[in-house]
Amino acid sequence: MKFKKVKYDFVQKYSRTFQHVFKSHYNKDNILIKKFNTDILKIDLGTESKKLEKHIIDCLYKKKIIHTKKIQLNKIHEYITSDNTNEESNNDVTRNKLTEVFFEKDEVFFKIYFSMITKIKKKLKFNFLFQKDPFLRFNFPTKNKVDTLLPHVDLAIGHPPGEVNLWLPLTSVTKSNSMSVSNLKKSMLFFKKFDFDFDYYSKIYNKKIWKMALGILKPYIAKQGETIVFDSRVMHKSLLNNSKKTRVSLDFRILPTDLQKIAKMYRGTGYKKQKFQKGHYYDSRII
Ligand SMILES: [Fe+2]
Repeated sequence: MKFKKVKYDFVQKYSRTFQHVFKSHYNKDNILIKKFNTDILKIDLGTESKKLEKHIIDCLYKKKIIHTKKIQLNKIHEYITSDNTNEESNNDVTRNKLTEVFFEKDEVFFKIYFSMITKIKKKLKFNFLFQKDPFLRFNFPTKNKVDTLLPHVDLAIGHPPGEVNLWLPLTSVTKSNSMSVSNLKKSMLFFKKFDFDFDYYSKIYNKKIWKMALGILKPYIAKQGETIVFDSRVMHKSLLNNSKKTRVSLDFRILPTDLQKIAKMYRGTGYKKQKFQKGHYYDSRII
């Protein structure tokens, strides 16, 4: 794997005054630590994932992107044209036409998603807001060996501290096509070196830092539906898909309800500058 730095224009830049506030929020214990004494949990959403896999194939068939329903999701690259698989971003391997097809989701999709949320609530047993529109991503096999992807936490892209991240593989994932994750202790030590200033981190990011990050990241190996739930301060990074199978994943975030006041102080770094509030980034229902 070769290192290459590109422009990471999605990283937030706080004013000097707000950076202090952010740092104090950042250092507060996450709910997973408080309730479960862990930074990473797993929840089995296998049944719901199977339903979603079927629905995705149905949708693509209806849209005439594929011409048979008898396919496995991890082989989808063999059934679609190459303009659907072309990488459209050098800092996000999942940005392609097929991912964009699901920027608009239908009722069935949201019904399955809500059944996932209900199951997560049963396991977590605390009240939370949940991301209104989860992100479905396709990561296609590639021969590319140049790593331009920034090891990060989502709090570096404007998300409010205290969120919990969920990442659900809809296809089974291996060390050559998954996402890699670290753990809280190592991530905290790593980002402390940059004083939790992610703008500074992304600017001085270089080959040495990349190697240091790779040293504390491990691929998440899992079967379809084995959802990883992690403290939002756990560093993670997508992997270049050097396997022969497409990786399909769903990612979303939840916010414990008692953090709504803090969350109001934050905005997404995307063009929408999303508000991290009920009815905006999060669904209007509390669960
Ligand atoms: Fe992320």
